Amino acid sequence: MSLVHVNLAERSYDVVVESGLLGRAGAAISETSLGGRRAALISDERVAGFHSEVLLDSLAAAGFRPSLHVIAAGEASKTMAQAEGLCREMIRAGHDRRSLVVALGGGVVGDLAGFVAAIFFRGIPLVQIPTTIVAQVDSSVGGKTGVNVGEGKNLLGCFHQAHLVLVDPQTLRTLPQREFCEGFAEAIKHAAIRDSAMLGELAALDPDSREVPAELIARNIAIKARIVEADEHETRGIRALLNFGHTIGHGIEAAIPYGQMLHGEAIALGLRAALFLSQRHCQLAPDASRSLLGLLEKFRLPLVLDEEIATPTIMGKLARDKKFSAGKIRFVLLDAPGHAYVSDVVTQEDLRDAIEHLRQEPE
Ligand code: NAD
Ligand code: GLY
Repeated sequence: MSLVHVNLAERSYDVVVESGLLGRAGAAISETSLGGRRAALISDERVAGFHSEVLLDSLAAAGFRPSLHVIAAGEASKTMAQAEGLCREMIRAGHDRRSLVVALGGGVVGDLAGFVAAIFFRGIPLVQIPTTIVAQVDSSVGGKTGVNVGEGKNLLGCFHQAHLVLVDPQTLRTLPQREFCEGFAEAIKHAAIRDSAMLGELAALDPDSREVPAELIARNIAIKARIVEADEHETRGIRALLNFGHTIGHGIEAAIPYGQMLHGEAIALGLRAALFLSQRHCQLAPDASRSLLGLLEKFRLPLVLDEEIATPTIMGKLARDKKFSAGKIRFVLLDAPGHAYVSDVVTQEDLRDAIEHLRQEPE
């Protein structure tokens, strides 16, 4: 078992990583001081099909009265309408301010269910049980919740830290290969910005195996936890480091119809663009850039952007990104593996060049 404590004063919580933990989740939640015995389990149809029964049994065995709320799988579910629909379902199921939300699924379920927990009766406790690599190494920790709107991704939401995060690496075994691989974009990002030694550990994984050591997941969570502890609300320029690869990545994601590209796939393209600008602006060594691109390729992540996704469309989405401040771009650059920083030197022209760079095969 690996344990990461996220130290945020009265909002502190534990992240437990342990094989088989899903079947013991009810007991683990019971051991915390979360109060009420009503739990609204929110999941998507795919994840619920594989894993909700074990979790419902475990909650019931620990004395909870759970209700199950299932959404359609995929990014298109991350909307205000879906959040309202879930809240109303929960009210009809008898939930109130003593209830808690349990989010079982990938980042979509986690962000949406977290948002529901933040607004339901002005805020109720949240337990995250992430089931994708993205959610296990990144989105379940740090308290960012929210939904998308037509104008862009994650533009509505709030901070609502989980009260407990339970990570069971065994849940990854049911992930299709594409969904397994996409998550490594976020793990490679963590290694790039803070922990270059982890690049070797990621390189040693087998993308066909669905096996990730609990310690490696915990190491990623610890990177994120330390950054969140230093800058919970992204006001001090530290948490922004986690946006490495995300400015252009989010722009690409917002420029195409939902379902065409997975989150991690768009972030892989965003990472390549950020590496290009890091070579241009802060002399990142070409070898370092090549080895990061090689790792993205190992996890079969895309590095070349389809001509059909037009540069002006992506640029239009970028303008609405939260990472813009008073019209200036706060862009994360890398001067060496393991060392990233926030810069304001990147221009609109740079962004356009970086997107165009993605049209060519890497050398
Ligand atoms: P996702 O939640 O859509 O999951 C991908 C697919 O895998 C879905 O079809 C889902 O049904 C399926 N799936 C999930 N777990 C499974 C399992 N164990 N077995 C079989 N199928 C399973 O996508 P994601 O990549 O996990 O998350 C992407 C979302 O996370 C985006 O909306 C992104 O904005 C958000 N995100 C949030 C943060 C944050 O800090 N809050 C950080 C990174 C990403
Ligand atoms: N995934 C970026 C953050 O949590 O800040």
